[in-house]
Amino acid sequence: MEQKSGPIGVFDSGYGGLTVFKELVKELSQYDYIYLGDNARVPYGIRSFETVYQYTLECVNHLFEKGCSLIILACNTASAKALRNIQQKDLPKGPALRRVLGVIRPTTEIIGELSKSGHVGIFATMGTVNSESYVIEANKFFPQVKVYQEACPMWVPLVENNEHHSPGADYFVKKHIEQLLQQSADIDTIILACTHYPLLMDKIREFLPPHVQLVSQGHIVAHSLADYLQRHPEIEALCSKGGRKEYFTTESVTDFNKKAAFFLGKEVGSQLLNL
Ligand code: DGL
Repeated sequence: MEQKSGPIGVFDSGYGGLTVFKELVKELSQYDYIYLGDNARVPYGIRSFETVYQYTLECVNHLFEKGCSLIILACNTASAKALRNIQQKDLPKGPALRRVLGVIRPTTEIIGELSKSGHVGIFATMGTVNSESYVIEANKFFPQVKVYQEACPMWVPLVENNEHHSPGADYFVKKHIEQLLQQSADIDTIILACTHYPLLMDKIREFLPPHVQLVSQGHIVAHSLADYLQRHPEIEALCSKGGRKEYFTTESVTDFNKKAAFFLGKEVGSQLLNL
């Protein structure tokens, strides 16, 4: 049976992936999209490898059921802990032309071009840091680049609770900047390797020495996807066009609609996905 075209699926543990989604829609506006936030089970960053894999796989399967052939895991934690298993174990069981891509590879593919000193800092969740995915992947593309990691477990709750602009956020932002920069005086670039963190951009900038550049991933992932679709016309043909967008959440629709506005700059109408 011929595979039908469908929207591009964008998945995150909660709202964070909207920072990637926004850039995808900006750069690749011709496609249809479905966003799915697993708000009922966020945060993923503190969960075990097995749990993140199970949760992510479940959500990926829901997106396949909704007609997606291409899914972006717009979540570093899911990309670090679930992507490989899904690509190697689960995808081969389904139709040939289904793809799931993550956000770590597009970022590490260009990591060496971002830094002059070759010393790059990463702010991420505990799960992403412990997986060492950034260190391993960066080493494949740019063996000369040294990656320093800092886990910031309080940053996602700050963002999810809309406290990221508050004076209370200062303590946790300063603390992690200091701890990361203590690892090397040569760090000239820091990557926000958690999709929630771009909302803390202004706050981080306040406390970061001016010579250190701060990089968020959304536009990197969007460029990389544009390139991927050009190189894979068979997958591109399965991405439906029309610019339609649907939003699904596994928790309260009212909360999602309200909070998504912090990330997207406008209210959206979401639908409940019962897991
Ligand atoms: N947005 C997720 C990421 O990029 C982290 C949020 C969470 O802990 O679930 O890693």
